[in-house]
Amino acid sequence: MNDLDRAMKNLSRLLMGESSEQFTDLAMQLAHEPLNVGEMEQPDGLGYVQGECGDSMWIYLKMDGDTIAQATFITDGCGATLACGSAATDMVHGLTLQQAAELGPGRIIEYLGDLPASHHHCAVLTINSLKKAIAGISPHTHT
Ligand code: FES
Repeated sequence: MNDLDRAMKNLSRLLMGESSEQFTDLAMQLAHEPLNVGEMEQPDGLGYVQGECGDSMWIYLKMDGDTIAQATFITDGCGATLACGSAATDMVHGLTLQQAAELGPGRIIEYLGDLPASHHHCAVLTINSLKKAIAGISPHTHT
């Protein structure tokens, strides 16, 4: 193992906990530089869920007609949650509410290339927050 590998492994431990399981390069990148992080002023939908691990995720959605124009998130969770939130908010962009509601944790794992089993609950937390945000949007409130 060279110095860079060792440094990446240490960073992984720091961000993701003590798990020795491997994260994909994309998951590591998004944990380090997440996409779409931030609160949104006057969102059309806001979902908040606290997961079993005690960590929370907020997802904000802004509609443009029938499709999701913008999605952002904030979390106090682990690095994997930052990667999952990035994946979810990127994937829902341009989808209808129905299409977004059909996404499951497996799609986030697919997007990231993989996710260690010990962190699957981070993808579940993300999807549950997304579903709450979607459920909060009435079809007639965003025209
Ligand atoms: Fe709590 Fe990842 S460990 S969300």
